[in-house]
Amino acid sequence: MSKSPVVLVTGGAGYIGSHACKALADAGFTPVVYDNLTLGHRNFVKWGTLVEGDTRDKAALVAAMKEHKVEAVMHFAALSSVSESVAKPLDYYDVNLHGTQTILTAMKECGVGFIILSSTAAVYGTPETVPIPETAQPKPENPYGRSKLAAEMVMRDCEKAYGLNWIALRYFNACGASPAGDIGESHDPETHLIPLALAAAAGDSAALSIFGDDWPTADGTCIRDYIHVTDLAAAHVKALEYLMKEKVSGPINLGIGQGYSVLEILNAIKDVTKREVPAKMSARRPGDVSALVADSSKAREMLGFKPENSSLEHIIQTAWDWYNRRHNQ
Ligand code: UFG
Repeated sequence: MSKSPVVLVTGGAGYIGSHACKALADAGFTPVVYDNLTLGHRNFVKWGTLVEGDTRDKAALVAAMKEHKVEAVMHFAALSSVSESVAKPLDYYDVNLHGTQTILTAMKECGVGFIILSSTAAVYGTPETVPIPETAQPKPENPYGRSKLAAEMVMRDCEKAYGLNWIALRYFNACGASPAGDIGESHDPETHLIPLALAAAAGDSAALSIFGDDWPTADGTCIRDYIHVTDLAAAHVKALEYLMKEKVSGPINLGIGQGYSVLEILNAIKDVTKREVPAKMSARRPGDVSALVADSSKAREMLGFKPENSSLEHIIQTAWDWYNRRHNQ
């Protein structure tokens, strides 16, 4: 391993990818962003150079890996909306599965042996036990979850055949923004709870729809495990360092191990912003499950993962600061 290893960060111009680039640079790695900018943002590329390219373009990947002497890959570039995946499954398999296969092929050709994949809690489907350990049988219930599980399986096969070292980080709910205010969540269209609720609180959108109050939870709304994007990014660096040193592959959950209901999130938003969140009850959203909370002990024990920035107050404060910065400039 060189002194400042070069990491190709696919999707490095996106929400989580850009935070990972910042964390990589802070930890002494050299990020090179590989992004086709369909969902990413050119102005999020602040750490490392930008190579404009598609993850399904093997020649461009090989050229980038050779030119920059890449030693490892962090693969964020993906489609990630559950509901969209139900309507457009072929797009999801193309980008998420074929994209990963193409990256792995390019890595093999260039002798790059380490990859961290953005995976998802959606691989679990409706869990039998909560919190969910990595040993739970994956039973994804939508094309998004299946495309990510398939990508994990391809990596597992490449480990056996070619000695690939891989970690699939199964994210729970990424949220919040860099406290420096330089990067944050910016999806179009936005589908995630916290940015939508903040837009409603700011009076910039109609009332938030709460997707179901008849779930088998204490207040009837869905429970999720919300992890601050800077904690998520820091865990990627720890995962890469661990992988390059120990060469032990496998999936690792990234959540904080604590769940909050939709109503609890809306109350926390009211506390932080001092504004009501206009909201109305709506039908359940297709693809949702009632509760997803990580058993995060593997990340804590193996990686020394400590989600120090994931209090609800900090998550919402940084997301609110980012929201106001974007909308008032
Ligand atoms: N929700 C609402 N109203 C909204 C938006 C969301 O009530 O307008 C609820 C959802 O039903 C869910 C919770 O808020 O219970 C969180 O929803 P998000 O859309 O913010 O996040 P998801 O849990 O649906 O999605 C996240 C990731 C996906 C991943 C999924 C795994 O963003 O990439 O977890 O289930 F696939």
